Amino acid sequence: MLANTFLWQILLSIAIGIAYLLYYLKYRAYIWIQKGDLRETRSFRGKSLPCFPNGWFKLVNSQDLKKEQVKYIDYCGRNIALFRGKDGNAYALDAYCAHMGANIALGGTVKLGSGLQCPFHGWIYDGATGNCVIDSKMEVRKGEVFEYNNMDTCEKKDGSVLAKQCESEVKINKYPLREIKGQIYVWLHAVEKHREVPLYEPLSFDHGLQYRGESLNFVNTHIQDIPENAADLKHFYYIHTKVFSWTNAITLKWKLKWAAADDPNLYETMKVENPKRNAFRKNFLETHITPKNKKYLSVLGLENTLVIFGFHIEFFTLTGFQQGPGLVYLVLDSPYFRAAFQQSVTPTEKYMQNVWHRFYTTSWLPYWISASMLRGEVSQVMGDLRIWNNKKYTPKLVYDMSTQADKLLYTWRSWYSQFYEGCADREKELNKYDW
Ligand code: FES
Ligand SMILES: [Fe+2]
Repeated sequence: MLANTFLWQILLSIAIGIAYLLYYLKYRAYIWIQKGDLRETRSFRGKSLPCFPNGWFKLVNSQDLKKEQVKYIDYCGRNIALFRGKDGNAYALDAYCAHMGANIALGGTVKLGSGLQCPFHGWIYDGATGNCVIDSKMEVRKGEVFEYNNMDTCEKKDGSVLAKQCESEVKINKYPLREIKGQIYVWLHAVEKHREVPLYEPLSFDHGLQYRGESLNFVNTHIQDIPENAADLKHFYYIHTKVFSWTNAITLKWKLKWAAADDPNLYETMKVENPKRNAFRKNFLETHITPKNKKYLSVLGLENTLVIFGFHIEFFTLTGFQQGPGLVYLVLDSPYFRAAFQQSVTPTEKYMQNVWHRFYTTSWLPYWISASMLRGEVSQVMGDLRIWNNKKYTPKLVYDMSTQADKLLYTWRSWYSQFYEGCADREKELNKYDW
């Protein structure tokens, strides 16, 4: 009898151990990736702004680029050879070899500390500089540049269709890259003079919070629609009120504020009644807004109340930054916990966006709660997604300027327009080569 009980205790302990292990593996860092294409219509989308604005864009998570691994990335209307050198650093080069145009990301091999070798004739490009190098001393290859006299007629001059232009060091485009908290970003700018030196740096903070997973949505819309959502007060009342789709007994109430970070009245606009929440918000803003980055940042403030069977419960106060066209950082300050979302939007095609949410919480929060919160965020995104996937773009908009909400949308579009410098011209050039 005693032996029997003992056996049961052992079996029970093993079963509990396995159950906890499964729970831990699934929910400690919960990953949710959208399955399938959720478009419901296939219609002409109208006329939109340029599709690839200027800024920092997330390409991949660090863990998805192993040492000596090479990836071909064709996001944002660029062709990028992304690789991790033998030195452990990540590099992003233009994908095409200066010699005869082979794609160095497809079949290319990592060489030297930071080099990538073209698969066609073996030229090596240094990821740190873009230079074509001939040896481990990083000596730069000299090349002679030839051009067709006339590409359309193949006209010969001095017995040749090709004319020598100059001799120069061989180099391809290198993209500024940052690897921050497990994510790889590149700086993309349509204007030549801003390509090599970024105008600002991506924000980086964790407030001592613990990484709890991430979600990835694929959204069929123009990039601007996604960050614009945060300045769109009214849509919260229609899209984001329900916690669960099957009941109206638990709902969310929102109070939203938005201002450009260089607005002289920023702190006044962002003030909240609760002194504790106000102090946290003020400190958060003061820590991250600098004279150099404030032109490219905007701030949003949300106060959220949970309504359960008519009872109002303070849930959280959210303070967030939008940085450039594709990065958003949100911190949730609550009486019960603290959490942060980082959203990155990257156009993979003209009207197709990768939308990531990386989630961080107070370390003591049970894993199932953080996973549920991340699922909650996903379900809110899915509410927006149905609108985004099926909407049309137009240069003409009708606003109701008697409302604060539409005035805000109008102001927000003005703020965001700074990220399109030179993009229309660049995209016109790209379209010329569309097949
Ligand atoms: S095409 Fe790259 S080395 Fe010739
Ligand atoms: Fe939304």
